Amino acid sequence: MRVIARRCFEAQIEAVGIYDSWDGLLKSAVRTLGRGDVAGIAQRAGTILRSARSRLFLSPGDPQIAKDALSKHGIDGLVVVGGNGSQTAAAMLAEAGFPVVGVPKTIDNDLVGTDQSVGFQTAVEVAMQALDALRATAESHSRVMVVEVMGRHVGWIAVEAAIAGGADIALIPEHDFTLDEIFERLHTRHEVHKRNYSIVIVAEGAMDSAKKLDVNRGTRDVLGRLRLGGVGTMLAHEIERKLGWDARCTTLGYLQRCAAPIAPDRLLATWLSDKAVDFLLAGQSGVMAGLNGRTVEAMPLKDVVGKLKTVTDDYFRLAKIFG
Ligand code: F6P
Repeated sequence: MRVIARRCFEAQIEAVGIYDSWDGLLKSAVRTLGRGDVAGIAQRAGTILRSARSRLFLSPGDPQIAKDALSKHGIDGLVVVGGNGSQTAAAMLAEAGFPVVGVPKTIDNDLVGTDQSVGFQTAVEVAMQALDALRATAESHSRVMVVEVMGRHVGWIAVEAAIAGGADIALIPEHDFTLDEIFERLHTRHEVHKRNYSIVIVAEGAMDSAKKLDVNRGTRDVLGRLRLGGVGTMLAHEIERKLGWDARCTTLGYLQRCAAPIAPDRLLATWLSDKAVDFLLAGQSGVMAGLNGRTVEAMPLKDVVGKLKTVTDDYFRLAKIFG
């Protein structure tokens, strides 16, 4: 938001912010941005525009509704900052003939067409710091610490945090696992390698794999009823029940989305947004500014949406060896 607005100030173009997502566009929550609106915000977490999920763009006529609303506000071009849902809407709007460019931003890092999305590296940093901190309590009390991180469909945060923070086991949606495998690996670590603690990191989306497991029905029912149940809680409980060792779960949840962005994320946001403005000013539309190595390229949105960038086997191997 800061970079896009400042590029507009520089080019003497009026910058407007659409608050409260697409719903805000329809409710006229559209405001001209001044220098004060974007001053000192590079270090802030969260979404200043209060971006959120929206139900607009679910029906065939919705792109035209959005297009009319944008024209009503005198908006000639749009930069859409967000993840899969936002970029899908951007693609539909471009298809309807409105000039639009995307900037990938999701902590899940599951957008194809970019090496990384804004927010991801900060989320990994938070998860890694948590692993570092939890190691102390795990070791002090001879416990298995299960750490549940975000990642609905993919395990990027879990895998990178596992590599950087040295988790002993990483569980992600892309790879099915069985409880026996986990028990086996914990057993080897504790009984053969004589370690007194272990750290398991699990992506929330691995829940689907967990559902296929022979997890004790009673456990699942209790957790479900009390609304405690993430896959991490369930695993910790099963480890205690089957191995008889002390196990605890920490769910990082929204902490991963509220840390001040680390430097690599601020830089990435700057590179991508700066290029997004270039693309829009050059008359390009229906593209997303995607990071490819050290360069930013215009990736056709039609090749980006409806897909998931999953963790590759080769990369997952790193977490297994070096975690
Ligand atoms: O899409 C990013 C994400 O952080 C997911 O990892 C997580 O499941 C989801 O958002 C949580 O979203 P909500 O704010 O709707 O609970």
